[in-house]
Amino acid sequence: MKFQAKVTTPAQINSIKTGCIVIALFEENQLSTSAETIDNACNGYITKLMTRGDANGCAGKSLLLTGLHGVKAERILLIGMGKKGETSAKQFIDGVTAAIKVLKDGPATEVYYFLSEVAVVNKETSWAIRQQVEVSDAALYTLDQFKRKKSPAVALKNIQISTSNKIAVAQGVATARGVTLAKDLSNLPGNLCTPSYLAEQAEQLDQTFSNIKTKVLNEAEMEKLGMGSLLSVSRGSRQPAKLIVMQYSGGNKGDQPVALVGKGLTFDSGGISLKPGPQMDEMKYDMCGGASVFGTIQAAAELKLPINIVAVIPSSENMPDGDANKPGDIVTSMSGQTIEILNTDAEGRLILCDALTYTAKFKPAIVIDIATLTGACIIALGGQASGLMANHQPLADALLDAGQKCGDRVWQLPIWDEYQEQLKSPFADMQNIGGREAGTITAACFLSRFTKEYHWAHLDIAGTAWISGANKGATGRPVPLLMQYLIDLANTK
Ligand code: BES
Ligand code: MN
Ligand code: ZN
Repeated sequence: MKFQAKVTTPAQINSIKTGCIVIALFEENQLSTSAETIDNACNGYITKLMTRGDANGCAGKSLLLTGLHGVKAERILLIGMGKKGETSAKQFIDGVTAAIKVLKDGPATEVYYFLSEVAVVNKETSWAIRQQVEVSDAALYTLDQFKRKKSPAVALKNIQISTSNKIAVAQGVATARGVTLAKDLSNLPGNLCTPSYLAEQAEQLDQTFSNIKTKVLNEAEMEKLGMGSLLSVSRGSRQPAKLIVMQYSGGNKGDQPVALVGKGLTFDSGGISLKPGPQMDEMKYDMCGGASVFGTIQAAAELKLPINIVAVIPSSENMPDGDANKPGDIVTSMSGQTIEILNTDAEGRLILCDALTYTAKFKPAIVIDIATLTGACIIALGGQASGLMANHQPLADALLDAGQKCGDRVWQLPIWDEYQEQLKSPFADMQNIGGREAGTITAACFLSRFTKEYHWAHLDIAGTAWISGANKGATGRPVPLLMQYLIDLANTK
């Protein structure tokens, strides 16, 4: 889909030749400015439809009109956006979703959204502009690569967005494309999306962007670095582990990079602490953190953000081979700290800890890790917010703020010293699980022992990275959050 920012004065609306013009209506028979202009041209027909009850402003309601008198556009799509001046973020998203649902079935190849003028509570206009792009693009996402019968092609090719803010549209497009990349990688089955496959995709980004450099460390190289914790996980699998490193240089040479560390566990069976059977297929999504890092670095490169980013993705399978970790095994991490593995299913922290130690060598300004780390996080926050934990409150605040701004929200949990007690091991420096209580927090406490050298935040995306059930699929989160954070960061420079 092509998205374009376009400026049209109200006077010009009626003479636009396009497949469909999309305008907003509000409750209590209120019209948006664009709707008013069109209403005047067609002798108050829209007002008549509203008073008759055929059209209304309830959020998400839509009515498609064809052959309207006085306007050149072939169709007019009326979209309800709630109470005028009080449209909530959710209502706006519902409205755009309703519009694209109608348009994707329709014959129009080119449409024109006049929705940037809708005032959304607590959101900037640039948010509304970006959402028009991101929501529309997401609604058109399909993965039918593995179906012999493909979904019918969408006639719609071009969406114009009424705004002069080209940057916001470009940010929306880059973010949407980043989300799509994250979804594509995440939705691939585990037999295809292996650590080696992810490594190839990273090489691909290096080929595509002159300012992305990729380096992939193999097991022998990791062994040399002493990554005994990460390698203990991949020992249980026939797929060799990869440590994927991508460096994006959009800033000045000496600028300290932002490091993004994404869990790239391409299938988590639990290992010897085998997971129960039902829904185990969803553990192909245990690389969604890594996928979101792919999506984010691609989006940053497309936008040419003037910052440096280093992406580190430890990638492995977690399988119950004869050589797999066993409960009670003790391994030595790259940091030198020893770990007693009491549950082989708490493997994410085992691969992340070595990746986090490795990341220090880039002298990062800040480090954010993104991981589908704990089932406990789903219980705590459900699918709405990702869990946030950090050793530096200004960084946590910046992420909370970015989430609030873009709608891809996070919620902070504490990592007080008292919780560290739960990781005490009688035999090693720590154990890899902290018991039933506060599972999301103790997982972060475990990671915090490897992140002392820098400012660090941890995002637990177990509840937000994908949707289960009939509409099973990756969400691409938290690409929008990370992009908002990086865009804000670039703007402060
Ligand atoms: N990848 C899982 C966490 C997970 C589970 C994410 C379900 C999304 C849905 C992780 O590796 C894991 O298995 N964690 C264990 C930790 C426990 C053994 C301390 C968990 O949450 O059960
Ligand atoms: Mn696990
Ligand atoms: Zn896992």
